[in-house]
Amino acid sequence: MNSDTAMEPVLEAHSLVKTFGRVVGLDGVDLELYPGEVLAVIGDNGAGKSTLIKCLTGAEIPDEGEIWLDGVRMNFKRPQDARTHGIETVYQNLAVSPALDVAANLFLGRELRKPGPLGSILRVVDTKRMRQQARDELAELGISTLQDVTVPVENLSGGQRQAVAVARAAAFGSKVVVLDEPTAALGVRESRQVLELIRSLRDRGIPVILISHNMPQVFEVADRIHIQRLGKRAATITPQSHSMTDAVAIMTGAAQA
Ligand SMILES: Nc1ncnc2c1ncn2[C@@H]1O[C@H](COP(=O)(O)OP(=O)(O)OP(=O)(O)O)[C@@H](O)[C@H]1O
Ligand SMILES: [Mg+2]
Repeated sequence: MNSDTAMEPVLEAHSLVKTFGRVVGLDGVDLELYPGEVLAVIGDNGAGKSTLIKCLTGAEIPDEGEIWLDGVRMNFKRPQDARTHGIETVYQNLAVSPALDVAANLFLGRELRKPGPLGSILRVVDTKRMRQQARDELAELGISTLQDVTVPVENLSGGQRQAVAVARAAAFGSKVVVLDEPTAALGVRESRQVLELIRSLRDRGIPVILISHNMPQVFEVADRIHIQRLGKRAATITPQSHSMTDAVAIMTGAAQA
């Protein structure tokens, strides 16, 4: 589904400012994410893409500006606050725990407990149930590269680790899924799977924010494209309204939208 001006955004940012000492990461950025859409965020290195999504997802606290989720003002102080509100994020610098196995990583922070007092009082983790659900979840998401959910993540390839992080976001993101360069470390087949995953999230009605440098992928999967330049939003375009060449020209400042 494409954006519709009659629709209210699910997630909205107004005039976000974030500075790091004398470095301006965000310089008054607006963003709107509409129901059921894939919004790509593109821009050169250092344009503020990661900082923008960190502010939207509680990993950074903006100096100024507002964040609204379903029409309610949010004040996320940490990623867990955003997760509690149904926003799942895969950060650019991978957030998996290498020593834990695939299943434990999928359930990180949401571990299933054994039934009865063992679980409710002694907080004993139900490893068997988590492994079974992890297998089911991965199968459902079409992630076939991870055959054994009991393998510690440190033994996986970079792409497989990325797949675990993406699977976790897809499995638990109930309102919004945010992916910062999810295919950067992936091979052709795994990249395809991630793109399929993004589409299936959209089809389930969950909007996705996708940060990517991969223009063909962006133009293939995005409904709208937010172009970030020098800490500001330079334009929001669509694959129908602009070509890849146009997008790059806006990104680099050679052209305006
Ligand atoms: N924790 C930090 N401390 C200091 N400066 C930072 C920090 N995080 C980001 N910056 C700066 O803010 C600006 C925006 O960085 P950001 O990581 O958001 O860029 P980006 O668009 O994600 O780039 P890339 O495409 O390379 O991932 C850069 O100038 C960066 O150096
Ligand atoms: Mg980045």
